[in-house]
Amino acid sequence: MKGIILAGGKGTRLFPITKGISKQLLPIYDKPMIYYPLSVLMLSKIREVLIISNPEYIDFYKNLLGDGSSLGMKITYQVQERPRGLADAFIVGEEFIGNDSVCLILGDNIFYGQGFVPRLDAAGSVKDGAVIFGYYVKDPSEFGVVEFDSEGNVLSLEEKPNQPKSNYAIPGLYFYDNSVINRAKSLKASARGEIEITDLNKGYLNEQRLKVELLGRGFAWLDTGTYDGLANASDFVRTMQKRTGLYIACLEEIAYKNQWISKEALCKLGQVYKKTEYGKYILSIAKS
Ligand code: G1P
Repeated sequence: MKGIILAGGKGTRLFPITKGISKQLLPIYDKPMIYYPLSVLMLSKIREVLIISNPEYIDFYKNLLGDGSSLGMKITYQVQERPRGLADAFIVGEEFIGNDSVCLILGDNIFYGQGFVPRLDAAGSVKDGAVIFGYYVKDPSEFGVVEFDSEGNVLSLEEKPNQPKSNYAIPGLYFYDNSVINRAKSLKASARGEIEITDLNKGYLNEQRLKVELLGRGFAWLDTGTYDGLANASDFVRTMQKRTGLYIACLEEIAYKNQWISKEALCKLGQVYKKTEYGKYILSIAKS
């Protein structure tokens, strides 16, 4: 399975913060936002990742993450000339995906919760069809929304409905079989001129090839789309890390625990940041 992170867009909802910088590079407490979705791909054991961003920002991501080899990964980059919708990721990324299945994660989505890795393992084994998630939120109208019947069967999917039929929002984490490339190509642009991921998912639903997994109330899916969302996400990460001493989205730790890099390599990475708590944490993992 391959992984794609969408880190494009203009970030207009966060202006002026994002007037001069890509949203997914903003800090969430002690690390750039994109570390969090990248960590989810790594926890899914996905080693080959494509990062898609706007022409003006792509080099920032290259500077930050390089070719991925220091994490035992292969990270490549591609430009999306203009925002054509989330489903465009599969057209831009066609060559990268090749004959594989693919996981798409949005560069501004943060996930945290116990038991996440087995859920990712299960979703990642999809060979035929698609797996998406549902998460209960107070105001789902800002998101894709999934409606169920009393037996948990999916009745409908709607993108940003004014009157949501349920409280279950669809987070920006999607697993697809290889047919997603051709499906994306055949989508028609929506009223806002984009090819919508929700339309893609509807295609799978109509063929009964869509699985929707619920993330329960013990789980955190954090929104970073507003000033408060950003601040709350930072507070959340800081609180969890200070309380437990365990880091959220420490890429070096995950690479090491996945056995993608050696202890020596981990030590070296820790040395780079040794003046920071982040670096000291990496070094403590290498010693344990
Ligand atoms: C996108 C999707 C939406 C999804 C959301 C998750 O919306 O279109 O279905 O629920 O991401 O973050 P956007 O935030 O790009 O407007």
